[in-house]
Amino acid sequence: MYTQAIDLPQNHPDSPVTHATGRDLAFEAAIADDRKVEPQDWMPEGYRKTLVRQISQHAHSEVVGMLPEGNWVTRAPSLKRKAILLAKVQDEGGHGLYLYSAAETLGTSRAEMVDALHAGKAKYSSIFNYPALTWADMGTIGWLVDGAAIMNQIPLCRCSYGPYARAMIRICKEESFHQRQGYDIMLSLARGTDAQKAMAQDAVNRWWWPVVMMFGPSDKDSVHSAQTMKWGIKRISNDDLRQKFIDATVPQADLLGLTIPDPDLQWNPERGHYDYGEIDWAEFWQVVNGDGPCNRERLAARVAAHDRGSWVREAATAHARKAAIRERRSAA
Ligand SMILES: [Fe+2]
Ligand SMILES: [Fe+2]
Repeated sequence: MYTQAIDLPQNHPDSPVTHATGRDLAFEAAIADDRKVEPQDWMPEGYRKTLVRQISQHAHSEVVGMLPEGNWVTRAPSLKRKAILLAKVQDEGGHGLYLYSAAETLGTSRAEMVDALHAGKAKYSSIFNYPALTWADMGTIGWLVDGAAIMNQIPLCRCSYGPYARAMIRICKEESFHQRQGYDIMLSLARGTDAQKAMAQDAVNRWWWPVVMMFGPSDKDSVHSAQTMKWGIKRISNDDLRQKFIDATVPQADLLGLTIPDPDLQWNPERGHYDYGEIDWAEFWQVVNGDGPCNRERLAARVAAHDRGSWVREAATAHARKAAIRERRSAA
């Protein structure tokens, strides 16, 4: 998930100047002491807006992320693989719900966030705009995409905003199961026939660079990262997270006997890290800005699913209305 922030005013427009100083100080003290900021606490408008943007973007990524894998539930090669994949896809739906709830504590409704996604105004992780072509893509998504997500999300468990940090603790536990199940698929394929091994290598060839891009623009181009770091929303920079991911993943690829498609990838003993090749940022921005291989397909699938579910929302609303009337009558 990319987490670059945007330019925002820092003070709540409704806050009288005379009170803003005291409120500012209380907020700054909470951040400095590493205490959690809670929904009832005063917070600068820029902090609130950055969080709404990041958490809703994260929620959308979880829900849109169900699509490439959801397509494979009916084509899983065994009952066991089908049950595991189904559970994994359901987990992602659950992550979306925790995160929409966390964002709602900042005063934005889930309906508003979903409308922004469907109108093409809200972003989600660029990775889900790539197609999942073979069963090996299920292994590669779990291993690499969920693996990159964990790297990004573990520091968010220490995010300064309480509801987001607490949601991330459970999400990270589930993500580590997702990564394990993906790696297990890759192990089976890597130890399988030549055709299975070739399928696994082909999937890694297609997913590697988009996964490396998931950490967002390079630090030198990520002009708003400093503010999100200062607020304790972001704890580790994009490039540092990317490096940690590459360093952790190369030995895993070696164990599988698969090649990472980067001729410049090599251990640098002086840095104590792997050096890696140039990222194609033109491709990254093209996909982020709506022109990736599957952007239109993914958004159309989300809008269709939302429309098909309207009867459930209407029935639940009607039931809640009737229940409230009954309660009022019995209390009278
Ligand atoms: Fe997830
Ligand atoms: Fe996941």
